[in-house]
Amino acid sequence: MTEHSSPKLLRATIFHTPRNPFRHHNALESFSDGGLLIENGRIAACGDYVALAAAHPRVRTRDLRGGFLLPGFVDTHVHYPQLRILGGLGYSLLDWLEHHTLPEEVKFAAPEYAQAVAAEFVHALVSHGTTSALVFGSHFAPAVTILFETAAKAGLRIVSGLVISDRLLRPELHVDAETAYQANRQLIRCFHGRGRALYAVTPRFALSASEVLLEVCQTLLTEYPGLRFQTHLNENAREIEEIGRLFPWASDYLGVYEHFHLISSRSVFAHSVHSSRPELERMAAAGSYVAHCPSSNAALGSGIFPMRRHIEAGVGCALGTDVGGGTGFGMLKEGLQAYLMQRVANGSGAALSPAHLLYLVTRAGAEAIGLETEVGDFQPGKSADFVYLKAPAGSPLHAVAAHAGSAERLLASIFTLAGAETVSETWVAGMPAFRHADHRRD
Ligand code: GUN
Ligand code: ZN
Repeated sequence: MTEHSSPKLLRATIFHTPRNPFRHHNALESFSDGGLLIENGRIAACGDYVALAAAHPRVRTRDLRGGFLLPGFVDTHVHYPQLRILGGLGYSLLDWLEHHTLPEEVKFAAPEYAQAVAAEFVHALVSHGTTSALVFGSHFAPAVTILFETAAKAGLRIVSGLVISDRLLRPELHVDAETAYQANRQLIRCFHGRGRALYAVTPRFALSASEVLLEVCQTLLTEYPGLRFQTHLNENAREIEEIGRLFPWASDYLGVYEHFHLISSRSVFAHSVHSSRPELERMAAAGSYVAHCPSSNAALGSGIFPMRRHIEAGVGCALGTDVGGGTGFGMLKEGLQAYLMQRVANGSGAALSPAHLLYLVTRAGAEAIGLETEVGDFQPGKSADFVYLKAPAGSPLHAVAAHAGSAERLLASIFTLAGAETVSETWVAGMPAFRHADHRRD
């Protein structure tokens, strides 16, 4: 394709976090007059524009000054069949599921409905600057096929899978173990490792999974190396109480998944608001990640995420929008929400700098989904997945950015003020996945 045929040098203010700021000082790398050299869909170099232009005199420059280049965002927890029920305020988790969410998810039995929402969903991700996502699919295999195909057409990198449950939701969403096994195998053969797609074994949560169904998950993960695993964990007090009743033999919620060998470095557990010290230690030992979903935790009243306890225990944290429990697709907004919630988390809060926020929405997500050698920052050799942000003239961000005294201040103002309207372009593997209709193409 033409986009790949010749190298390109993009000139703008650049931010990325090639190191983990929870472990290293100076994790943020920024270039106020930066250059990002892209060749064959990959990052060839990232640095000061003037030096890069001098070293590559024959490469054409695209002048994007006045805007910001960031690595594409990685959303580590988002539900595709919940886009149309965003904004269901006033519930807590189990009531929200029963009365607001599951009736919508039933509609995905109809492929035409799934097709329409899949298009909306993929567009929502790329138009918010998300280039990779770990996605809860649907309970219906054809709807999952539609999601994988729609994402592939848009160039979006997704890790997703069939959501499986066999109790306590509603009969239309239940599946027996043998059907679940066969449907997963078929989807894995079709989509795992095809293009940019990967497959994740996805039991909804232990509450809606019998032991036989969790055994199916274990079997699949053993049969197909490289699969990811995602589910929910310790989100809500009533949910946790029920888990204790359903699995009396387990020492705690994590113990249920552990019993079926579902805890590994390829596992991402959403929420973990109420995990105990032993649970955190076991997740850390396994190298599992938590998808922290601050907007959802607040909207559903689930609680304040004890990030400091996770970090101190050595559990890797990334961010998820948790659409539709959350409040939308914006990962910058999610980063801000994480910051705000940690500020008011008495005793268990983490002090998050702008570098932490950038890491959480980019590289941490790449690590969580096992793609840190491919995406997450601008180190040479990585895929050219990036977002170009431009503050609309006359906007508060435009004014603040013009007067920011340092890279950190500027990045903080981006997290505080940048909404979807600032996402000018989203690129995956050196190809455009989204261009804002109102922004002039240079
Ligand atoms: N636990 C089980 N299903 C869900 C879901 O759809 N959203 C959230 N936030 N938690 C869950
Ligand atoms: Zn969720």
